[in-house]
Amino acid sequence: MTVSGIAGVFDRAAGTYDAVGVPWFAPIAGGLVEELDVQPGERVLDVGCGRGAALVPLAHAAGPTGRVLGIDLAPGMVERTAVDVADLPQVEVRLADATAPGLAPASYDVVSSCLVLFFLPDPAGAVRAWADLLVPSGRVGITTFARQDERWRSIDALFTPYLPPAMLDARTSGARGPFASDEAMEDLLRDAGLDEVRTAHREVTVTFASAAQWKDFSWSHGQRAMWEAVPAEARGEVEAAAYGLLAGWDELTVSQQVRHTLGRRRPAP
Ligand SMILES: C[S@@+](CC[C@H](N)C(=O)[O-])C[C@H]1O[C@@H](n2cnc3c(N)ncnc32)[C@H](O)[C@@H]1O
Repeated sequence: MTVSGIAGVFDRAAGTYDAVGVPWFAPIAGGLVEELDVQPGERVLDVGCGRGAALVPLAHAAGPTGRVLGIDLAPGMVERTAVDVADLPQVEVRLADATAPGLAPASYDVVSSCLVLFFLPDPAGAVRAWADLLVPSGRVGITTFARQDERWRSIDALFTPYLPPAMLDARTSGARGPFASDEAMEDLLRDAGLDEVRTAHREVTVTFASAAQWKDFSWSHGQRAMWEAVPAEARGEVEAAAYGLLAGWDELTVSQQVRHTLGRRRPAP
């Protein structure tokens, strides 16, 4: 999927993104913010800030003397999030591309990016670009998905016949390339010249109140791209098949392994 295609999906999802009563993005981003350990007064960039799941806790950690910039390529995300953070003067939200943010080199203490890298056409280039934005000893933290719940995989598989080869959901693309393993992600950071590279894992579990809530949730984030790939006349069939699978579960609970990959720019010589 093209960069503008992805931005379009999130622009259409922005109105309901992280707003269907499923605590998902906040706990995932919370783990990243914890690992980054932002200190008062630090300058922080949140790449692909979406509706602020990481941006807001980062802003609280940086405090009123800090400076936090959130960038995103979906206008609907930027507009809504800018309104949400209007009472946090240390925060700015701006429309910009993750890979070419147009920011000054060596101007951030921390770069964070939660659940964004797998949407970018050149993940290695993006990590290099983010590393250049760090001051010496600055930290980067990048969140991707690790192992997926088998039951979710079975639902995702219902969409597979409709997906163009180039378009895979973020969670399923986790089986390939740099998202395949902790080591592959760590190599991406090392190849970008970062040191002290490490991985932290968390497990996030959600329970859907109903199959209908699962459906609303699936339309509200990146999986929307999968729904949109299914012709309108076939969506009822996919929905019925998904509801059939969900009906077979003892409870509507799924878990997801989340991977935070962290690194540090070399200190000044
Ligand atoms: C799954 S959401 C994650 C949002 C947020 N970081 C969170 O944890 O909730 C992915 C975000 O990346 C943004 N995005 C995708 N491609 C982008 C690009 N090339 N440049 C900037 N943002 C991008 C999308 O618009 C979306 O808001």
